[in-house]
Amino acid sequence: MNQNQTFYYDRVVRQFSVMTIVWGLVGMLVGVLIASQLAWPALNFDIAWLSYGRLRPLHTNAVIFAFGGSALFASVYYVVQRTGQTRLFAPKLAEFTFWGWQLVILSAAVSLPLGYTTGKEYAELEWPIDLLIAVVWVCFAIVFFGTLAKRRVKHIYVANWFFGAFILAVAVLHIVNSAEIPAGWMKSYSAYAGVQDAMVQWWYGHNAVGFFLTAGFLGMMYYFVPKQAQRPVYSYRLSIVHFWALIFTYMWAGPHHLHYTALPDWTQTLGMVFSLILLAPSWGGMINGIMTLSGAWHKLRDDPVLRFLIVSLSFYGMSTFEGPMMSIKTVNALSHYTDWTVGHVHSGALGWVGLISMGTIYFLIPKLFGQKEMYSKKAIELHFWMATVGIVLYIAAMWIAGVMQGLMWRALNADGTLTYTFVESVKATYPYYVIRVFGGLLYFLGMVVMAWNAWKTIAQGQSVSVAIPELSHSQRNA
Ligand code: HEM
Ligand code: HEM
Repeated sequence: MNQNQTFYYDRVVRQFSVMTIVWGLVGMLVGVLIASQLAWPALNFDIAWLSYGRLRPLHTNAVIFAFGGSALFASVYYVVQRTGQTRLFAPKLAEFTFWGWQLVILSAAVSLPLGYTTGKEYAELEWPIDLLIAVVWVCFAIVFFGTLAKRRVKHIYVANWFFGAFILAVAVLHIVNSAEIPAGWMKSYSAYAGVQDAMVQWWYGHNAVGFFLTAGFLGMMYYFVPKQAQRPVYSYRLSIVHFWALIFTYMWAGPHHLHYTALPDWTQTLGMVFSLILLAPSWGGMINGIMTLSGAWHKLRDDPVLRFLIVSLSFYGMSTFEGPMMSIKTVNALSHYTDWTVGHVHSGALGWVGLISMGTIYFLIPKLFGQKEMYSKKAIELHFWMATVGIVLYIAAMWIAGVMQGLMWRALNADGTLTYTFVESVKATYPYYVIRVFGGLLYFLGMVVMAWNAWKTIAQGQSVSVAIPELSHSQRNA
């Protein structure tokens, strides 16, 4: 090995870790603002770029792709080096993915408030930005698979299977769903029409959940939970079985977003059946993660970072039970269009994606800046409780509001007329929207505590280079 090859390349991991916190703050602040606008509409101040319709996609893009995406980039680059005992392949290309991804985020932050949108949920960005995303993502794939190819141990650790599937699937989803015909610099039309367009969009949409918000974060779980718990994965065999089952099943579940639409009925039923099957591989992952703690449960008492990681798995289990139930057509007839869906989304987003990312960043920051642990353990404790109470307030309010809305909309009088007008259901929802604002605010303030703690940790530390250990013959073949 030459000198340059003896250290892990962690600069890009540091950059993405810090930006996870920054984008988390921005995305959640916009979340709190739009939640407040739903309770108090005057908060758009009659300014077009502050209006709900423009800020909502800004929120979803910022939290999913900027916050979640940065956490994923950081963990992929950290984990693939450690599990392969090798330096990152093409570090300059990795740096390009960092700056390229930041440019994508900034372009989104400018173009969405200005009103440029394709109108496709989670794929709103216009075609020049889509092209940039495709280029950055292909480079990401080259760095990841290149590093995997030059690994110094024979075995490919399971976290990398999930990361690989996440990177490949997101490339395919993005490229197929974003096929569009430009009609000006910031305007395009989808290459698909009518019901095909809807089907492609929700094939994309659901697999964005399955591969971006699930497979990538499961990869994170498979590395950081065993590391923090200092225990081996509960069942390696289960991890492989649920990996293949998960990636096969997710691909078919998209039509559950299009129940009772012009999509052929058999397609909707197919989506429902695959969604029900999806419960099994999802719970396989949850059980495997939580059981990794068997024999070490006491660690939960005094390790708040582990608590973030394990509680995130409970929320993962909860939302992947709820999702299959909501995909049953008769249940969906009640839940669709209501705030129940928004509650489901945020039990997955705040509970699973948010908490596991925070646990991971708490693990990474001290190591990347040469510290033994975070500056304040008490602040991590505080953050944990703020986040957990915030999530419970948010999702409980949305569940109650959602079921109430669904029941009010379908209530009929004896003569067949509607019992409630739509506006009556909006009025009845108001208190729950206010509770959501408080829950969201608490969750956001927890992020502020995290930012302060990270700032203090980084200020007293410094960027360190970690040496790659020498390996014996048997270690290489393990
Ligand atoms: C402070 C925390 C947050 C607050 C207050 C918040 C608030 C909101 C609000 C008010 C909406 C619009 C709901 C509607 O249209 O009726 C929304 C949508 C959404 N948020 Fe959040 N959010 C937060 C954090 C997050 C995070 C961390 C994620 C993802 C990792 C996320 C993902 C989403 C998604 C995917 C939607 C679209 C839901 C749908 O179309 O059904 N949010 N959020
Ligand atoms: C077994 C796993 C899951 C299944 C079968 C499932 C199923 C569903 C169903 C049926 C809907 C409602 C569709 C509608 O009525 O429009 C939905 C919405 C949604 N779910 Fe899940 N879900 C699962 C897990 C998750 C997880 C873990 C997350 C987040 C991390 C998530 C994020 C979302 C989002 C963002 C939406 C809203 C999409 C939109 O309309 O904008 N889901 N899911």
